[in-house]
Amino acid sequence: MKHDPVFRIPRCPVPSLRPGDPLDISAYESFFLRYADDECASCPRAPSPMRLKLEHTMRVLAYTRIIAREEGLAPLAARACLLAALLHDIARFEQYRIWGTFRDQASCDHAALGEELLRGGCVLDGEPDIRGCVLAAVGAHNRRDLPQGMAPLARLAAGVVRDADRIDIMRVIRDHLDGRTSGTPDVVVPFPDDPALFSPEVIRSVLEKRACSYAELKSANDFRLLAAGWFYLMGCPASRRICAGEGCATALIEGLPAPYAEARDQLLSDIRTAGQAV
Ligand SMILES: [Fe+2]
Repeated sequence: MKHDPVFRIPRCPVPSLRPGDPLDISAYESFFLRYADDECASCPRAPSPMRLKLEHTMRVLAYTRIIAREEGLAPLAARACLLAALLHDIARFEQYRIWGTFRDQASCDHAALGEELLRGGCVLDGEPDIRGCVLAAVGAHNRRDLPQGMAPLARLAAGVVRDADRIDIMRVIRDHLDGRTSGTPDVVVPFPDDPALFSPEVIRSVLEKRACSYAELKSANDFRLLAAGWFYLMGCPASRRICAGEGCATALIEGLPAPYAEARDQLLSDIRTAGQAV
C-alpha cells in the first residue's frame, strides 16, 4: 500500500555532539522525543499505541548500548548502532497515524518508510561517516534475511538493532499472550491457543536453530516457540546473554506441552548456558 509520506521530520540536521563523545546521541534522543510528542499530539487516534512504540524504542536503544559495550565495538560503529536503534521504528508513528495499525501487511513496510522519511528529513546530515549505514540499517531491520551486499558497518548496525529489537519484542509478546496487556496493535496472534495444535515445521526450525516462516504457524504455542527461537538468530553473544537474563524467552516456552518437549528443553538449556556465560 503506497502513500506519499508526510515529511514531518525537520529538514535540518540535528546538531552533532561529535567529536566530544561518540556514544553521546542525546541531541538525537531529544529530537526523537519531540518528534514522538508532536505525532502523539497531532494524531486523531488513541495515543497509547504510539506511547508503547516510544517505550519500545527506548528499550531497544538501551539494549543496543549494552550490546555495543559488551561486544567492544569501535566508537564509530557503536554510534551507528545507537542511531539506528533510536531511529529504527520512526515510521511507526506515521504508520499508526495514517493506517491505525502496526501491521505492515495491512499498511506499509515500516522499515522502508522509516528510511525514506529519514532520507527526506536531513536529520542525519551531521553524520557524514555513518549516515548511509544508519539509513540502510533502518531500512533493512525488519527483513527476514539482510540483503546481500550491505556495507559491513550497515550489516553490523542492522544486526545489533535486530537483536535488541527481538529481545524487547519477546517481552511484548509474552505480556500479550499472558494477558498482561491488551489491544497491543502489533501483536496479532490469529491462531487458537489450543494445546492440541502444533506445527512440526516450527519445532524442526528451532531444533535446527534456523528461521521459520510465519506461514507455518498453527497455534499460539507455535508463536511462543517461534518468538523464543529468535534466541538462535541473534548474532552477538552479548545479545544472547541479555536475552537469557531478561527471562522472556524462557517464560514464553517453559509451559509448552509434550509435542514441543524436545525443542523446548533444548532451547531452555541453551538459554540457561548463555545466561551463565561471562
Ligand atoms: Fe522495533
